[in-house]
Amino acid sequence: GRVAVIVPAAGKGERLGPGAPKALRELGGFPLLVHAVRTLVTARSVDLVVVAAPPSAEGVAEVQRLLADLPGDTRVVAGGDTRQESVSLALATLPEDCDVVLVHDAARALTPVDVVEAVVAAVRDGAGAVIPVLPVADTVKAVDGDLVTATVDRSTLRAVQTPQGFTRDVLTKAHAAADPTLPATDDAGLVEALGLPVRTVPGHAEAFKITTPFDLVLAEAVLRRRR
Ligand code: CTP
Ligand code: MG
Repeated sequence: GRVAVIVPAAGKGERLGPGAPKALRELGGFPLLVHAVRTLVTARSVDLVVVAAPPSAEGVAEVQRLLADLPGDTRVVAGGDTRQESVSLALATLPEDCDVVLVHDAARALTPVDVVEAVVAAVRDGAGAVIPVLPVADTVKAVDGDLVTATVDRSTLRAVQTPQGFTRDVLTKAHAAADPTLPATDDAGLVEALGLPVRTVPGHAEAFKITTPFDLVLAEAVLRRRR
């Protein structure tokens, strides 16, 4: 079967500050979404990319216009009010013959193609759910207000990235069981809630999520070094 990638891109980007939806903000002259999708259509293992666009008529039209300039099989659906809903809406539109589904944040615009390939390979190798992870560099503490209650054992923690990869069956079951009123921040969380295993593969520093204005500065530096 084929490999589809769902790209949730419907968020507002409130933490980035006022302006266009985050996926449409520019980095080095191109919207974040274009950077992300360009890498995905370059990946040898990826057959189809479905973007969940900002749900307004203008949002959908703008994403259609941007994708028309890219090679590969790309499609657009209107996203939802939460990331989880955006993924669910895109998942419902996938062609029958897609049996592996990745979910990749538009906001992780500079993710190297090798991470995409490693996630697909792990699903093909038999994992129902796969996430790229990195060790946590900082010491992490639990707090109650401004008082520390515990130091968490950092060696057992991982920071989680995308793309996350799934058999279509596992992702469909996970979203069918999800509670839309308590949305999850990642798709693997929904799989864990079903008690199903989630496998990790090494992530990459450049797959970081562009969330704050500082992250855009960092992304510009990464891009300059690549060019
Ligand atoms: N996303 C989405 N639909 C939503 C909310 C988020 O498709 N209703 C997408 C975003 O476009 C982004 C990814 O999910 O690519 C990760 O979300 P996040 O980094 O939180 O982006 P935003 O929600 O846009 O940012 P913020 O939370 O700062 O508003
Ligand atoms: Mg958000």
